[in-house]
Amino acid sequence: MQLVETAAVRGQTATTDHQKHPPHGSTLEEVLSYQHPDLIARFVEEHHVPESYAQELFVETKKWLWLCNANSVEGARAPLIIYPFMGALDEMWHSFILFSKDYATFCDDFFGEFIHHSPTPPREKAQHRDRLAADEEGLREETHSQLLRFVNYVEHKLGQDTATRWFGPEERLSSPFLRRSAVRQNNGEFWEDRITERLPYWNDSGSIQCDTPLISEVIAREHVRRSLIVGFANFADSLALAAQGIKVVGVDVSAAGVETYRRAAHALSVAPKILGIVSDIRHADLSELGDFDLIACTMMLHVLEPAERADAVRKLAAAAGESSIIIVTALSDKDDYLNDPSQGISVEELGAMFEREHFRPEILDTHYVAAPHSHPGGAQHAGHHVIRGIFRKNQKGG
Ligand SMILES: C[S@@+](CC[C@H](N)C(=O)[O-])C[C@H]1O[C@@H](n2cnc3c(N)ncnc32)[C@H](O)[C@@H]1O
Repeated sequence: MQLVETAAVRGQTATTDHQKHPPHGSTLEEVLSYQHPDLIARFVEEHHVPESYAQELFVETKKWLWLCNANSVEGARAPLIIYPFMGALDEMWHSFILFSKDYATFCDDFFGEFIHHSPTPPREKAQHRDRLAADEEGLREETHSQLLRFVNYVEHKLGQDTATRWFGPEERLSSPFLRRSAVRQNNGEFWEDRITERLPYWNDSGSIQCDTPLISEVIAREHVRRSLIVGFANFADSLALAAQGIKVVGVDVSAAGVETYRRAAHALSVAPKILGIVSDIRHADLSELGDFDLIACTMMLHVLEPAERADAVRKLAAAAGESSIIIVTALSDKDDYLNDPSQGISVEELGAMFEREHFRPEILDTHYVAAPHSHPGGAQHAGHHVIRGIFRKNQKGG
């Protein structure tokens, strides 16, 4: 079993309360049979994660609570600790506790005792930091053996598979995994709510503006007749282009989003100008759609796994004619709020992907957007960095 490095600050502890009657243990199977669909639905809504991941997290949380009870029934004096790399499990536990009545009944029914969640008080964290400064080596050793005991206990009580899930390299219980899962949503259903939330796209006077300033800039100076917008169903860009007489082929993985667009296009009398296609860029062949003067893929590339992005760029390039312009915007790697450096895209990464396709950047930089963005994982921030690029095909021989 490979141990993950723990953060130095102690995590949350679970204490139990069984003054009224002695605790009893239920079997793990019994505890795992407990279901709470409202909790799952709330968690999905709040964290924007796939339902399957919320379900998985709840299973692990029930195992954790069962383990806390087992620890208590066995008469252990020390409470179990939720380590920082178990942050996603902790989030699920918080959500469960919010349904306070159900949580209390669950604890009582299955364990005969209340399992409390006890955050580490700031005083204790400060003491911990002082000790770290005074005796880092000693503290690390202590933490390491404490963690080792915990890993062995989990392995002993819950088995190797669970231990791998909790402590293995995938870190499925960690907060960054939770956020990654939220941001890398590729299923159409997920985007549906966000897309319909944004309606109406037009202002009171009935005029529609491009949401992406780079697109407005390009169409103001270039002669654009035909455009391809990938990941189009969440912004007004395609409607605005159509309203200016530019033909738009929009590709988006969300069927509901594309349908919403169709309705909006009808309402704005620009339907003949927009062809909306439901397709996942990872499986689509964009070259079949023909040449476009303008291709835009805004705030979508980072949704894909890093290994999938170059292929997506290849497809954008394949849909380009000799003088096409490609516009890309995406979350930049400059922000660490996702706690995952591979999530955002760097200037170098984007530049290199286009260079491989023989495209050169006309603009390639990152800039700060002050307003909070509606992207999952980004909302808690006042602003974020966006990478933006305008690319053109290299001239022959260039
Ligand atoms: C964050 S929104 C960005 C929308 C808009 N272009 C913008 O600039 O904000 C991502 C859009 O990409 C779509 N999308 C996500 N994954 C996709 C994929 N693999 N293929 C095609 N579209 C995808 C979503 O349905 C959604 O409409």
